[in-house]
Amino acid sequence: MWGGRFAEGPAAVMREINASIPFDKRLWRQDIAGSKAHVAMLGVQGIVGHADSVTIAQGLDRVAAEYEANGVTDDLTLEDIHMATESRLAELIGPAAGRLHTARSRNDQVATDFRLWVRDSIDAVDVGLRALQQALVARAAEHAESVMPGFTHLQAAQPVTLGHHLMAYYEMVRRDRSRFADARARMNECPLGAAALAGTGFPIDRQATAKALGFDRPTANSLDSVSDRDFALDYLMSAAQASLHLSRLAEEIVLWASQPFGFVSLPDQWSTGSSIMPQKRNPDAAELVRGHSGRIVGCLTSLMITMKGLPLAYSKDMQDDKPPVFEAHDLLALSIAAMSGMIETLTFRTDRMRAAAEAGFSTATDLADRLVRVAGVPFREAHHITGAVVKLAEVKGCALSDLSLAELQAIDPRIDEGVQAALSVDASVAARASEGGTAPERVRQTIARAKENLGS
Ligand code: ARG
Repeated sequence: MWGGRFAEGPAAVMREINASIPFDKRLWRQDIAGSKAHVAMLGVQGIVGHADSVTIAQGLDRVAAEYEANGVTDDLTLEDIHMATESRLAELIGPAAGRLHTARSRNDQVATDFRLWVRDSIDAVDVGLRALQQALVARAAEHAESVMPGFTHLQAAQPVTLGHHLMAYYEMVRRDRSRFADARARMNECPLGAAALAGTGFPIDRQATAKALGFDRPTANSLDSVSDRDFALDYLMSAAQASLHLSRLAEEIVLWASQPFGFVSLPDQWSTGSSIMPQKRNPDAAELVRGHSGRIVGCLTSLMITMKGLPLAYSKDMQDDKPPVFEAHDLLALSIAAMSGMIETLTFRTDRMRAAAEAGFSTATDLADRLVRVAGVPFREAHHITGAVVKLAEVKGCALSDLSLAELQAIDPRIDEGVQAALSVDASVAARASEGGTAPERVRQTIARAKENLGS
C-alpha cells in the first residue's frame, strides 16, 4: 500500500510542478502562428516534404479553430501549450504531425511565442494609454483657466490651473508610451531557429521565419536567444513605471474626493457605497488602481529574481516568466481603462478649488516678484518683506488681497497700488507664462500640441 502510493504520489506532484498548461495556454494563438511560420519554412527549404508541410499547416488551422471555439483544456499530462497543440495535431492528421518539431526545440519555440505575446500586449497597452491621454487633454482643455492650489509638500504653494495639472499626467503617459515603444523596438528579433541552444544542422531559413512573424530580423546568438527574457523585463519595467503614474493620479483622485478637499466628485458609475454608512461614496476604483501598482511592481521583482543567477542557456525556472507578465498586463490594462473612465466622468468642483487657491497666501510669491519687477528690490529682500506681509494677514485672519495699501506700505513704502490686483489668483496664474508654465495661454498651447500629436 505504502509503496504503491510512494510510486504514484511523487509522479503526480512532479506532473503538477512541471506543467505550465494552466497558464501558458494563453499563448495558443502565438504558438500556432509560430508553428505555421516554422512549417512553411521547412516546406520551402525541403526539410519537410511539400505535401506534409501543407497537411501540417491545415491541421494547425483546425487546432486553432478548436481552441477558438472551446478553449484549451488543462491536461497536465501534456505539460504545456506546445505539447498540447502537437498532440492534438497528431490526433487530427496522424504521423505527419511528428515532422513539425524538426529543427526546433520548445526552447526557441516558447521564446518566440512569448515575444509575440508581449509584442501584442504592448500594442494593446499603447491603445489604452493613448485613450487616457485623450481623456486628460479633453478635460484639460475644459479647465485651461480653472484655478486651483498648486502644492509642494502637500502645502498650498502657488495657484496653478487645473488644465496644467492634468497636462502634467499627459506628459507622464507620453513618456510611458515611448518607453513601451522602445521596449517593442528592442524586442522585435526572432529567436526561432536557435533550437535547443546551439542552433541546428538543418538548412533552415531564419530570415524567412523572422519576416513571416513580423520581426525585424533573427536574433544573433542562439544561446542568448533561448535564455533571454529581457523583453519580458522591459515590458514589466515599462508597466511598473506606467502603473506608478496611474497610482499617483489615483491618489490625487482619492484625496480630492475626500470631504476636506472636495475638489472632485465621482459619478455613481465610478463610486461604491458602504454597507453600513449610507452617506459614503467611496472611490474604490482609484484606490484599486493605486493598489494594483504595488502588485505590478511585485511582478517585475518576481521575474527579475527568477532570472538573476541563471546560467546559460535555458533553465526550467524560466517557465515562471509567464505568470507575472500575464498578471501585470491584466492589472495594467484594467487600471488604464478604469483611470480613463474616471477622468472622463469626474466632476471638478472648480468653486472649491478656487476657494482653496485663494486661501493659504498662495500669491505671496507674486508680491515678492512685483517688488522685484516694479521697485527693483533684490529678490531676497522682497522675500523678507513679503514674509512680514503674510504674517500681518495671518494675524488679521484675512487674505493677502484684503490688506489695505496703507497697511502694506507701512511694512514697506515701495509696495505700490498695483499690488492688490497682482495678488489675485487669476493674475498670479496669468503671470506664469514662461515656457512650460501654468498661464492659461501656455496651457492652451501645450494642449494644442498634444492634440496634434494624438492626431485628434
Ligand atoms: N513550458 C516550457 C516553458 O515555458 C517550455 C520550454 C520547455 N523546455 C524544456 N527544455 N523543458 O519554459
